[in-house]
Amino acid sequence: MGIPIKNICCIGAGYVGGPTMTMMASKCPDINFNVVDINEERIKSWNNKNLSKLPIFEPGLEELIIKTRNKNLFFSTDIKEAIESADIIFISVNTPTKTKGLGAGKSSDLKWVEASAREVARYSKGYTIVVEKSTLPVRTAEVIENILNSAKTNSKREEISFDVLSNPEFLAEGTAIKDLDSPDRVLIGGENKNAMIALGNLYKAWVPEEKILFTNIWSSELAKLTSNAFLAQRISAINSISAICEVTEADIREVSRAIGKDSRIGSKFLDSGPGFGGSCFKKDILNLVYLSEYFGLTEVASFWESVVQINNWHQKRISEIIVKKLFGTVTNKKLVILGFSFKANTNDTRESAAIHICRNLLNEGANLVIHDPKVNSSQITNDLKINPTKLIDNDNSSFDKKSGTWGFSKSINNNEIFNNSYAVIILTEWEEYRKLNWKLIAKKMVPPAWVFDSRSIVNTNEVKDAGLRLWRLGNGLSD
Ligand code: NAD
Ligand code: UGA
Repeated sequence: MGIPIKNICCIGAGYVGGPTMTMMASKCPDINFNVVDINEERIKSWNNKNLSKLPIFEPGLEELIIKTRNKNLFFSTDIKEAIESADIIFISVNTPTKTKGLGAGKSSDLKWVEASAREVARYSKGYTIVVEKSTLPVRTAEVIENILNSAKTNSKREEISFDVLSNPEFLAEGTAIKDLDSPDRVLIGGENKNAMIALGNLYKAWVPEEKILFTNIWSSELAKLTSNAFLAQRISAINSISAICEVTEADIREVSRAIGKDSRIGSKFLDSGPGFGGSCFKKDILNLVYLSEYFGLTEVASFWESVVQINNWHQKRISEIIVKKLFGTVTNKKLVILGFSFKANTNDTRESAAIHICRNLLNEGANLVIHDPKVNSSQITNDLKINPTKLIDNDNSSFDKKSGTWGFSKSINNNEIFNNSYAVIILTEWEEYRKLNWKLIAKKMVPPAWVFDSRSIVNTNEVKDAGLRLWRLGNGLSD
């Protein structure tokens, strides 16, 4: 008889905790899932009857929420109660890069993980399996174990006991539900086989057994960081080649297709774009850099750091190309930015290339009109750290006097957003940007007007036939 599992708690109702627990709840109807968070607003949004108000946008999530919410899936701020009743606790809190103190700029800030571990130590009852779901530096399980055991001794709660397991998450935003439904693998690292089997049994409800890998805990932690580092490395590699394409009349899409056919390389994750964004790649590589430096592995550290450096360079390079093509100045010119999230099908903007590119253009004095189907104006204000200018009918008359301002446009439907603009800059590959009517748009713009396509999604002939000049990332034959 294995360890019985009836109640599960997840600390952290974010991009990982929310969808992961929703998927598990839908696959394990006999188990209760309590997702808790300190952020009251977020919990309120998770409980909102209007599903378009869920705190995160993820295709397929709403359907699963309908199936599970308030049946065997509950969102709340009552952390104590959720921990007390839990047989398994997932720690799924944020682990951003530290901004100050030892390791600032590289190592992960573990204060939220530590706080979670302390709460677990305080409220748990009997035996509990504590699972690291957050991405953590190697050997963090040791830290969690220490916190749990010292709290147990200090509070003289000898009746409580724990096993700490590592179960990193590999979902990508925008495809989270699909990734959770059929993962390439589920990784479980730990020492106690029974605890590992109990966690593995949850996944066995829908994941084939051969995809559930058991490793030691340190391999599991390191495998997560390494996966992200390898994925990010591919993007930095292909983006560096896009710059070569632009000066040699080669086309990055053709190069990608050709190398992707090599089965040793494979075709996925070879789309050149404006540079990788998101909350994880940069932070996880820097974490690896920090770890390497800590162990005196200088060459290893600089190898991985260069992956991030190329990405920064690449984003800067795109803003410089835009300025150069617009006769060396964008001051007081209206530019339309299409897409602000770090990739399509998510409302997440963390580390989005759009933030860096827009900031560079604003510094150059451009007036930006920004559109994104899922990101709202207040999020963009937070990211750019500049308040928006109110736009009247998407017009730029309010821009005339000032330079370096931006406005938000809710819709691109009537093409008004393009009035009097000098360029359209596509930064996110949203489906609706593939279907734009360039003939109509061109009529509204100031000639010679430009389209900058950093995601290679427009139909080049349609853009050129409309009389617009086109720059496409990694295409040496652009105007
Ligand atoms: P997130 O910021 O969206 O969510 C984290 C949540 O934890 C927040 O809502 C925050 O309020 C809550 N929280 C923090 N401290 C808490 C505490 N003490 N008690 C209760 N709640 C607390 O972060 P995320 O994107 O879900 O990422 C979580 C972890 O998963 C990170 O380590 C990340 O690297 C990893 N990860 C993320 C992704 C992704 O695609 N976003 C994928 C795989 C792994
Ligand atoms: C990434 C990994 O893909 C997940 O496996 C991992 O779990 C997650 O990080 C994490 O640990 O947080 P995510 O950041 O959500 O997922 O999104 P990706 O699809 O990996 O995209 C990251 C960035 O790379 C985006 O800006 C995207 O536009 C860019 N990208 C991706 C490219 O430029 N080209 C590609 O071919 C693929």
